[in-house]
Amino acid sequence: MAAVTEPTLVDVENLVEAALTDAPVNTSGAWDVERVRRDFPVLSQTVNGKPLVYLDSAASAQVPQVVIDRGSKYLGEEHSNVHRGVHYLSQRATSAYEGARERVRRFINARESLECIFVRGCTEGINLVMHGYGRKFIGEGDEIIISAMEHHSNIVPWQMLCEEKGARLRVIPINDRGELQLDEFEALLNERTKLVSIIHISNALGTINPVKEIVATAHKHDVPVLVDGAQGAPHLTIDVQDLDCDFYILSGHKLFAPTGSGVVYGKRELLERMNPFIGGGSMIRSVTFEKTIYAGLPDKFEAGTPAIASQIGLGAAIDYLGSIDRAAAIRYEQELLEYATTRLNEIEGVTIIGTAHEKASVISFTVDDVHPHDIGTILDAEGIAIRAGHHCAQPVMQRFQIPATARASFAFYNTREEADKLVAAIKRVIEVFK
Ligand code: ALA
Repeated sequence: MAAVTEPTLVDVENLVEAALTDAPVNTSGAWDVERVRRDFPVLSQTVNGKPLVYLDSAASAQVPQVVIDRGSKYLGEEHSNVHRGVHYLSQRATSAYEGARERVRRFINARESLECIFVRGCTEGINLVMHGYGRKFIGEGDEIIISAMEHHSNIVPWQMLCEEKGARLRVIPINDRGELQLDEFEALLNERTKLVSIIHISNALGTINPVKEIVATAHKHDVPVLVDGAQGAPHLTIDVQDLDCDFYILSGHKLFAPTGSGVVYGKRELLERMNPFIGGGSMIRSVTFEKTIYAGLPDKFEAGTPAIASQIGLGAAIDYLGSIDRAAAIRYEQELLEYATTRLNEIEGVTIIGTAHEKASVISFTVDDVHPHDIGTILDAEGIAIRAGHHCAQPVMQRFQIPATARASFAFYNTREEADKLVAAIKRVIEVFK
């Protein structure tokens, strides 16, 4: 009896949702923030009687109406499973889902869409590489290099692997500005190094790391590099071929898309050699009790029903980013960063943690004699959303010998007026604690 195969990516390639034509982009160079703000419905509400000032995009960025509409369209008109059914709705869902994958490919300039694996977010993505690559290719006495500014999601999985395999974690130190000490990085590389796993932009410090240079250095030693792009993708233009990184991981909810969406980009030859992460339906070519033969890419890594609505939303978010002048947005965020940094530095008692030369619009700070949680709570009463805590980067806090920071993170929909409100509110906090 001939084996019956379910539709695979190859079968649906010609179904990929259309509308990948380049949307009109305003390239005048000017950034009309008020117009852009109207795209994000959440921003027009009041919180505690005050207009919302959302300065927590590094935790989760807001979602434009077009993404909400695309998710609703899927749920209202197309909802069904992907890659399984021959019926109309399943084909439409599959087309939209694979359309999102193709959008991701373009967004990061991967060679092939099958190099883009859908995951729930960066944490799952790094765990996928740890299980699929690490457990197969890293053994006793081997070394993995990370840095002192990693998010816990790029520390803990590697520690788990080291514990299991008897491998060793090596850590690139950072200087007082919160920059990687690259000379130390070079010194850590040796014949035992099996992987470098590095954050692109620090969520706790804002530092933009020179990942292209790091990749080139590691490759001289034949060591692959994973880049954690959770904060990189929202603030920079990403070209994985230019970076030449081996893995690039991103989270949809930091990229103006719903939670539960995300991507592992991996070079095809590496992904093909890796073990699957989760076993189950959809990731197989055939199953008998004696042996399972895995499907090809990307299915091998996408067992079970995926977060279809969320990934379609990610595709819509990428369309949105394609419809704005991204270069102007990035410049605008840099101007906001400079403005807010200058204003915060004027306040006596405020110390900015993370003063790298290359920085994204993420400002961590402390205020003398006030715990960051108190700052966050008082600001919330004024409708200002910031994050306070260790930002899932406790080693960064240890490096700077502080328990926590307050963090204001700006996106291209924030304004100078909002930075002024932040500054005024911090001054009031200082008054309260005098
Ligand atoms: N990693 C996210 C942050 O930095 C949650 O806030």
